[in-house]
Amino acid sequence: MKTQMFKVSVPAQDETQNIEFSSSDMAQIQAAGQILAEGGLVAFPTETVYGLGGDAMNPKASEKIYAAKGRPSDNPLIVHIASLDALEVLAKEVPQKAQALAEAFWPGPMTMIFKKQECVPYETTGGLDTVAVRFPSHPVAKEMILASGTYIAAPSANTSGRPSPTTAQHVFEDMDGRIDAIIDGGQVNIGIESTIVDVTGDVPMILRPGYITEEMLKKVVGEVSIDPAIIDDNLMKGMRPKAPGMKYKHYAPKGDLTIVEGAQSAVVAKINELAETATQSGKRVAVIATDETKALYRCALIESIGTRNNEDTIAHNLYDILRRMDDLGVDVIYSEAFSEGGLGQAIMNRLLKAAGHQVIEV
Ligand code: TXA
Ligand code: MG
Repeated sequence: MKTQMFKVSVPAQDETQNIEFSSSDMAQIQAAGQILAEGGLVAFPTETVYGLGGDAMNPKASEKIYAAKGRPSDNPLIVHIASLDALEVLAKEVPQKAQALAEAFWPGPMTMIFKKQECVPYETTGGLDTVAVRFPSHPVAKEMILASGTYIAAPSANTSGRPSPTTAQHVFEDMDGRIDAIIDGGQVNIGIESTIVDVTGDVPMILRPGYITEEMLKKVVGEVSIDPAIIDDNLMKGMRPKAPGMKYKHYAPKGDLTIVEGAQSAVVAKINELAETATQSGKRVAVIATDETKALYRCALIESIGTRNNEDTIAHNLYDILRRMDDLGVDVIYSEAFSEGGLGQAIMNRLLKAAGHQVIEV
């Protein structure tokens, strides 16, 4: 299959203004919508990561998504919508707290789990009676969904197990020849996937931490719980996460990644020591540092992931750095750890998975 590339320039976003695409860009988005309406697959930018879209209401399209990603078919897909009235078509009930969360964070990087309506195919929900729904804020995603005339099932557009794509180039590396088209809308803004909140119970439960933090959710609905199975110790004990995708080793670079945690000076000393030993044994070694520490390492390859003064920068660069490690053919990677509060909860969740939970405490 020849994968078409649609390059679209995204006008600067202002929350109060409607985005106006040029007519040629709009024509490309319409063409992508048409491919989706006919059961084809199109990768597209969202504000979190690139998605691999297909018609959520068409079981054949969902099956194609699983095949293109090499993803186990018990791992359900998120259904993307571009207007709030779509929610009633997909969800059997919309509890009051869900309504409040939708008002606060949609369109935006939050996914909610509802009891599904009959019309949502089991091929899309991985056999579950619930459906994950997300209303993305990215203007390309919004226009593409509207152009398709349907709702769009979309996992992250990476091969299963690889880091999620934050640029069209990443998608191309994984999906060229496997899908009908890719819309290139430039690098995404946030860089890690949406927060998933199960709203089927009395207390909303976080199934996957993301850009919308626990603190932000609590401000809107009061009490919020976290799926105990995604707390790292429990995951190690083999508890089954409620979001099936969270049980897989994910986001993994090809090199062997270890996280070193502790006070800054001790971490730097330990990583320098480990890097030196590994280099001496003939391994190609890289260090994932921060702007604050990158000058302190002695190693051939040092990449700064961002600044600790602004965790958004760390989320933004995380997957790109992990992919770059693959491009550089690195055998061994040592990374600093990040605080677990706020956005750090999502960052550490992804980093720990990428490291297969290899952590050294100093
Ligand atoms: O930011 C995002 O959410 C991106 C962009 C493309 O929107 N999408 C994304 O999809 O991250 P994916 O497929 O890579 O991750 C979806 C996660 C998986 O862990 C899956 O198990 C969980 O959502 N999920 C989907 N439906 C579910 C359901 N009904 N119940 C529990 N978990 C569900
Ligand atoms: Mg994914």
